[in-house]
Amino acid sequence: MPKSDLRFDCRGALAAAVGQADGLTDAEWSDLQKETAAIAGRIHAARAATPYRDLPTKKKLSQVDAILRSVARKRGKFDDVVVLGIGGSALGLTALKTSLRPPFWNMLSERGRRKMPRLWVMDNVDPDEFTALLDLVDPKRTLFNVISKSGETAETMSQFLVALDLVRECIGKNWKRHFVVTTDAKTGILRPFVEAEGLESFTVPNGVGGRFSVLSPVGLFGAAMIGIDVKALLAGAAAMDKRCASTDFAANPAAQGAAVQVGLYRKGKHLSVMMPYAAALKDMADWYRQLWAESLGKTRPDGTFVGPTPIKALGVTDQHSQVQLYREGPNDKVFTLLGVERFGLEVPLPDAPPSLKGLEYLEGHTMRELLGAEEKATAWALVLSKRPTVRIVLPEVAPRTVGGLIQMLMVQTSIAGEMLGVSTYNQPGVEAGKQATMALMGKYGAIADPTKKGLPAEFGTYEALREAIRKSPV
Ligand code: PA5
Repeated sequence: MPKSDLRFDCRGALAAAVGQADGLTDAEWSDLQKETAAIAGRIHAARAATPYRDLPTKKKLSQVDAILRSVARKRGKFDDVVVLGIGGSALGLTALKTSLRPPFWNMLSERGRRKMPRLWVMDNVDPDEFTALLDLVDPKRTLFNVISKSGETAETMSQFLVALDLVRECIGKNWKRHFVVTTDAKTGILRPFVEAEGLESFTVPNGVGGRFSVLSPVGLFGAAMIGIDVKALLAGAAAMDKRCASTDFAANPAAQGAAVQVGLYRKGKHLSVMMPYAAALKDMADWYRQLWAESLGKTRPDGTFVGPTPIKALGVTDQHSQVQLYREGPNDKVFTLLGVERFGLEVPLPDAPPSLKGLEYLEGHTMRELLGAEEKATAWALVLSKRPTVRIVLPEVAPRTVGGLIQMLMVQTSIAGEMLGVSTYNQPGVEAGKQATMALMGKYGAIADPTKKGLPAEFGTYEALREAIRKSPV
């Protein structure tokens, strides 16, 4: 394993650390190793069914060269990039920005940003927030990246309508230069619009669902616009994918992760906390929360419900908010602490003035040391309370390691989906809500394949759906 790769340490989840009732026993661990290694091999062999796995290596699929050419053409022309998208069309890019750009990127001066634009990912339709952003940016210097795989999500479409109106009014005939659309190659209402108007666009590759699309143009275009080294990101993901294809359990962190998570889920640990100990990774936990929840929270074909509930936390912040519950509340959680070995900067703690007594123990140390000590102390305290805890350690937060972490968590999710017997790549529970929103907003006509959209078969039209919602007690 190259030194630049992440390490997975699951000793704190085993019975030897937290006891037979709360950790994985030798026999369970041995069975899980066989189960997950076999699944890893099987899904690697059938990888055509999971095209997200090929994004790091197939340039045509990721469109990375076209993205970089487009970004080069736009250099110096925009102060702000506004992404209009939601769920899988937003969270991955936000995670990339937070992890791979300096903190407070949007507040830095143009020099601080090395003439690259600010990036705003708008994943809500709160009118106050959206208006405030549009008031903040200069439409003449703003690029809107509209991202929707389905090309019909009401939130994104409504944002798009507002932005389109604004830009057409401010810019006039050159408005098209201010839009890049990322959507499916064929389906949805955006694609015909792109073609009719001749807008610049990228494709969300066929078979790559929103939450598995961060290494496609969905995440890569915005990331490249703000100067993230997307080639290194993909290289890290490619190297990780090789590790995750291995049928050697000890060499495969995705198999190990799935084994711990699902093994403990089966023992009643139905909540899964991810707690990064680096502010740069806090939105990675947000992205992962969606990946895990939407992929695994399902009704199985036999009618049973399944799905670990993911919880995001942040070290050290949530030590002072959540850890009391984590250590002494119900023992129904598995913890993943995300650690980082090297930070970009070091902050030495100065000597306290003589009149400030009691802080001598901090003198001569650094903030990094304090953060590391807090992570170690929390892991120790959790295990002391018999709370199963794993650690994922990145040597540093850099494009290569972040690419690796993303790929590992996606493959871990694929393996976990197989273990739980669910359809990992659909989201009928979300689709039903999307259709219901459209009905309430006045859409009419037939709903094609209602059952595929998570709706009972009798809702064949938006009118019928609207009527049912109107009669509902909630
Ligand atoms: O992961 C998913 O598939 C979802 O979260 C979608 O990304 C989200 O619902 C947005 O859908 P779309 O990109 O089609 O607008």
